[in-house]
Amino acid sequence: MHAYIVEGGRPLSGRVGVHGAKNSVLPILAAAILAPGESVIHNCPALSDVSASLDILGRLGCRTAQSGGTITVDATVLTGSSVPDALMREMRSSVIFLGAILGRTGEANLSLPGGCELGPRPIDLHLEAIRALGAQVREEPGGRLSCRGALTGREIVLARPSVGATENAMLAAAAARGTTVLHNAAREPEIVDLQAFLRALGAEVRGAGSSTVVIQGGKPLHGGEFTVMGDRIVACTYLAAAAAAGGSVTVTGADPAHCSAVTAVLQEAGCTVRSAGGAIELISRQGLRGAGAVHTAPYPGFPTDAQPPVMAALARGRGTTLFVEHMFENRYRHVSELRRMGADIRVEDRVAVVCGVDTLHGAAVEAADLRGGAALMVAALGAEGESRITGVHHLDRGYASLAEDLSALGARVRREELTFS
Ligand code: UD1
Repeated sequence: MHAYIVEGGRPLSGRVGVHGAKNSVLPILAAAILAPGESVIHNCPALSDVSASLDILGRLGCRTAQSGGTITVDATVLTGSSVPDALMREMRSSVIFLGAILGRTGEANLSLPGGCELGPRPIDLHLEAIRALGAQVREEPGGRLSCRGALTGREIVLARPSVGATENAMLAAAAARGTTVLHNAAREPEIVDLQAFLRALGAEVRGAGSSTVVIQGGKPLHGGEFTVMGDRIVACTYLAAAAAAGGSVTVTGADPAHCSAVTAVLQEAGCTVRSAGGAIELISRQGLRGAGAVHTAPYPGFPTDAQPPVMAALARGRGTTLFVEHMFENRYRHVSELRRMGADIRVEDRVAVVCGVDTLHGAAVEAADLRGGAALMVAALGAEGESRITGVHHLDRGYASLAEDLSALGARVRREELTFS
């Protein structure tokens, strides 16, 4: 077990690059199963969720190799279509393997991901899409899921634009016979990245980034080479950190357009933000002010994953910001910890009212989930005195080099192994 020790109150300055996107590399690693060949995937971040995906690929018979940020997946021969419970539990997004395994082998056996720290995480839309393509899905006692059947393309309307359901439907449809038209698809940039990878494998997919994705299924697929897009949520976290601590930071490696809903809020809060040549520069010198109302929404709206770190930045300053969390039920678990640091935040159901305070103070706090952990880091950087953040394994799911990156910007952050006597 580890902790981050943060000495707050030091402005940040300099340039920082972000690694490849977690939410892009996970479905891409699953998609590699579809192609009986070798895929070479660059810009893969060193995250625990990526290791968990490699474990699943290995279990299915794929040969994988990792060298720096490049992962090679050889899916020429699959020896199984079943993912054991323990591996499924390692990460909720393991459900993304469903469409790919089913598409490649005609059957898939895995367990339901169940709830997680953000509240209930149903997969009804994933299953509806898979069923619509012709799969028989049996939910067995103990939460196991058994799917089989030859897939045929057809028209599917998602009841809501779920990222995971869109990805699962795209993966299954790429292997189905005939054309699938997916309406009300999620429009997140990671869906566009998945489309680009599927095309590199020889699939015919178009429309990603809009609400209608068309997949011409059944094309013979082969291995391909691909570079994963930069992580927009890591970029937004570093921008929120600079807003909180003050200073001037340039973030590279993520598309500024993917971060615009977040940079608009940080500008509203008094930061100067400029984008040029793929880099985002944020200057925060005057202290922050309230940013009005921030509603989380599917892309291109304000991302739910950026809500915690941006809230942490706005906890210090003048004025009030209202957050309304529309995506997940239980996404304010960082609030009690921010209060320990002196924040004035009230939560009622899906609404959080943040009244900016003059000073936050360092405290011992514990991350309850990935982005909630990022919020604690952001708050600690802007707080006076020392903070100790535990629950670091949550942060390891999404940030590959947090202490190194922030230290390079002038922060005092170190990671310590906790010893118990
Ligand atoms: C993905 C991201 C996650 C992000 C989220 C929303 C990955 C690995 N994770 O999660 O970081 O916070 O998008 O941008 O890419 N829903 C249903 N039934 C379903 C599926 C979803 O009701 O079958 C609901 C969810 O409970 C939630 C909403 O739809 O309220 C959005 O979820 P979804 O877009 O599916 O998120 P994930 O793909 O799980």
